[in-house]
Amino acid sequence: MSDTSTGPKIAVIYYSSTGNVHELAKSVVEGAEKAGADVRLRKVREIVPDDVVATNTAWANHRADTDGIPIAAPDDMTWADGVIFGSPTRFGNVSSQMKHFLDSLGGLWAQGLLADKVYSGFTSTSTQHGGQESTLLALYNSVYHFGGIIAAPGYTDPIKFVDGNPYGTSHVVGQGDIPVDDTARGAAQHQGARVAAIARITRALRN
Ligand SMILES: Cc1cc2nc3c(=O)[nH]c(=O)nc-3n(C[C@H](O)[C@H](O)[C@H](O)COP(=O)(O)O)c2cc1C
Repeated sequence: MSDTSTGPKIAVIYYSSTGNVHELAKSVVEGAEKAGADVRLRKVREIVPDDVVATNTAWANHRADTDGIPIAAPDDMTWADGVIFGSPTRFGNVSSQMKHFLDSLGGLWAQGLLADKVYSGFTSTSTQHGGQESTLLALYNSVYHFGGIIAAPGYTDPIKFVDGNPYGTSHVVGQGDIPVDDTARGAAQHQGARVAAIARITRALRN
């Protein structure tokens, strides 16, 4: 039973190897909190062996820097009125780490506990046409199975005509040399606020 006396509960659940999706996640959190949400920021579990992570300095450093962020658990899904997933693009698809988390949710799905929540997603790629849209659409395939309500940002704010991705916030990182900019941060904040606003309404479905 959802508690409607407080702000909407939003879980921002992400994977990031080298920090760009993590930067977007922080802005999503800011937007949701400004909209009055109670927010949990969670990273999904790393499934690549430590010795492989250690071969990439940026990956190893980011992993150490974000050591204090809790690992996403099924309870974060049941707690939330809205879930915003973030994953870097991997060959036009979500990362294996994010997929691993999604695939751990079968038990909740079987009980109907993933339904009637609001979902949205964000991503980053190396290149402009490297698969941001396909990654978000692939992510949303799981949401259809959950019985979730997809809150795409569309063009619901002037910032969306600047970042240009109605499927979700996205950023092109180049070879890791194009930091997350104000446009992406603004789009991510808008997405967080929008999901919070919609979750405030739709949580009544589960009461
Ligand atoms: C195995 C692998 C596959 C990737 N596939 C793509 C891709 O299809 N398109 C693209 O533009 N970038 C691709 N990239 C680059 C990542 O999307 C990019 O490094 C990521 O968005 C950075 O996010 P992060 O800093 O949060 O890890 C790939 C990277 C890896 C390691």
